[in-house]
Amino acid sequence: MAETINIIRSERGIRGQVWEYRGHGETTAFVPTMGALHDGHMSLIRLAKKKADRVIASIYVNPTQFAPGEDFDAYPRTEKHDVALLKAEGADVVYIPKPSSMYNVHHATKIKVGGVAEGLETDHRPTFFDGVALVVTKLLNRVAPDYAIFGEKDYQQLATIRRLVEDLDMPINIVGAKIARDEHGLALSSRNKYFDTEGLKVARRLNEIMRSCALQMSKGENVDLAVDRSKKALLAAGFSSVDYVEVRSPNSLTVLEGGVLNGPARLLVAAHCRGVRLIDNFPVKAKSK
Ligand code: PAF
Repeated sequence: MAETINIIRSERGIRGQVWEYRGHGETTAFVPTMGALHDGHMSLIRLAKKKADRVIASIYVNPTQFAPGEDFDAYPRTEKHDVALLKAEGADVVYIPKPSSMYNVHHATKIKVGGVAEGLETDHRPTFFDGVALVVTKLLNRVAPDYAIFGEKDYQQLATIRRLVEDLDMPINIVGAKIARDEHGLALSSRNKYFDTEGLKVARRLNEIMRSCALQMSKGENVDLAVDRSKKALLAAGFSSVDYVEVRSPNSLTVLEGGVLNGPARLLVAAHCRGVRLIDNFPVKAKSK
């Protein structure tokens, strides 16, 4: 356990701290978060510790990635608890930028990532990745780490950030971290806090339904049939609606032809349960010949 955690709130402070580490020959790994931390985030911190000498987390609920009517105001803000968790896990620094310092009144720059950022989430949250790309660019510019860690739970977000960093020549290694799940397979998420006991029961069915869909496709079942069955199974399990269940190529996220898969793929899902929108994704193995 780190004896202390350095809480930094200014841009100058975070730049200075990372320069100081670099001056001592120490590498840095950065874990950006929106707070409301749970064990999923702690698994990112643990991975960061394996990658670099120093670990920096950030907490900032980014308004530009929330559309009007989404849960920006209600998003859980638990700074004291978050800092305690980060300290216990051994993070060296937590950067908590002052909201007023992130987007000043003159801010006019937009960042739009194409390709991997199109479709899937963008069909339902059209401005989400614009907001993510903008804030991630700003945070990476301010922190300038050697590594930045993002969870695979937000699979399309991870692909979008990889594209962004490569396209804009940022000298940062983007590392994807495996999805942390509870004992029933539900992917850990800050929004799981919104569920009551019944909602949680329904939400936990998603993992079983989607894994069975992935397994059937890897055994050679027709993709459209398997996807269709899984959508019906989600609704029958108590999900109120399904935004998408799609099978894409694992890296470029390109749409795959229907029929039977002839290589590995990724199954991505977004569905609503008791007012909470869940997203998740699963590897689909290639059919063994
Ligand atoms: O995944 C998240 O928590 C957020 O989208 C991120 C990357 C911290 C940007 O606000």
